[in-house]
Amino acid sequence: MSTTEKVRATERLAELREAYARKRPKARACHERAQQWMPGGNTRSVLHFDPFPFVVASGRADTLTDIDGFDYIDCAGEFSAGLYGHSDPVIMSAMREALDRGLVLCGPTTAESELAALLCQRFPSVERIRFCNSGTEANLFSLLTAIIATGRKRILVFDGGYHGGVLTFAGGGSPMNVPFEFVVAPYNDIEATCACIAANAADLAAILIEPLLGAAGNIPGDARFLQTLRAEATRVGAMLIFDEVKTSRLGRAGLQGHYGVVPDMTSLGKYLGAGLSFGAFGGRKELMQRYDPRRADALKHAGTFNNNVMSMSGGLAGLRSVFTPEAADAFLQRTEAFRISLNERFAAAGAGVRLSGIGSILSLHLGEHVPTRISEIDPATSGFRLLVHMACLERGLALTPRGDIFLSLPMGEARLAAIADVLFDVALSEWRGVAG
Ligand SMILES: Cc1ncc(COP(=O)(O)O)c(C=O)c1O
Repeated sequence: MSTTEKVRATERLAELREAYARKRPKARACHERAQQWMPGGNTRSVLHFDPFPFVVASGRADTLTDIDGFDYIDCAGEFSAGLYGHSDPVIMSAMREALDRGLVLCGPTTAESELAALLCQRFPSVERIRFCNSGTEANLFSLLTAIIATGRKRILVFDGGYHGGVLTFAGGGSPMNVPFEFVVAPYNDIEATCACIAANAADLAAILIEPLLGAAGNIPGDARFLQTLRAEATRVGAMLIFDEVKTSRLGRAGLQGHYGVVPDMTSLGKYLGAGLSFGAFGGRKELMQRYDPRRADALKHAGTFNNNVMSMSGGLAGLRSVFTPEAADAFLQRTEAFRISLNERFAAAGAGVRLSGIGSILSLHLGEHVPTRISEIDPATSGFRLLVHMACLERGLALTPRGDIFLSLPMGEARLAAIADVLFDVALSEWRGVAG
């Protein structure tokens, strides 16, 4: 980006933020009050954006309403956990029935075994499963299972990978990462990754990977790269772990089904709890059997809310009656068409903007090609996404503050067309505004 373009982008962002703030006095007041008790008025860093986030009053279907009275089509989609939207009647009624049966029951329920059965039938790598409370926890347990099973400690992860707030590998990692032995390889780079595996072969417990590199810009894994990881993990005796916390919603069997690559362990989360706290880790029977509490050498896996009745009942209703295998495939097709046609529109308009991703999980990028590696992402992209995010709010469309876009099941054809129109107009005009 040239200096002139940078100045134009900065001025435009200031103008959008000022107009946004002027219209939302209640959100401003709420944000100021929250700062008295929570650092930055925030309890989940990714939700903050300047000047202050709008404050949500309610949500219905695919729409959010804020306390200042604005409605937004919700393409933030709770970072993929909002697959069902905000008020799916099947899920709401399953949760109401669960509420009526009482909370904190301190015992197994039929909902958890039924949900476990559906998940094992759905994901090829998951022969046995255990529940926990978040995707982060799921990854921690997947990794610990691999460390214990192999008797090794080193874990191969990928630059830009995000597996939870304590397992994040953008820009060299985070000071808050758990102190495991990580080695970081470049995503989608077969040669460099194989070299890294070879150098660590004897110590490698696990390879942990998102088959779609999410937070770093929704870059799809290359099929040959994922197949190579499968073969290499087997060769060196390490466990291949797919983090499908977000991507399990892409088709009936997640991306492991889509790519036909079966990992040893899979981490799940997000929408599978139908809107409540949820995580799960599962894998090959012989690995997971270590958790059988009847064994003398059983691994003790704890968690007060692992089988909380709300997540179990909502999650079960969702998978059984709403996001059936057929519905998952149809949704993937519909949303693939959305991205492909929007990219054709950008190309036809001569815009240097493209959407990356798979199905309902998308990111905007600057450039005329979808990046296949982090090194291909234009450094100006994050600034451009700030403009698009603000300008979309003005048009009644909420994206995630960092610019990821999640489509949800309540969005029918007409709704998707309306979203595509807003994204196209906004991205084109902001791109033209900056590029002059
Ligand atoms: C790929 C991936 N793994 C793990 C997580 C962590 O899940 P949670 O926020 O439920 O801990 C996330 C959250 O965004 C994620 O995107």
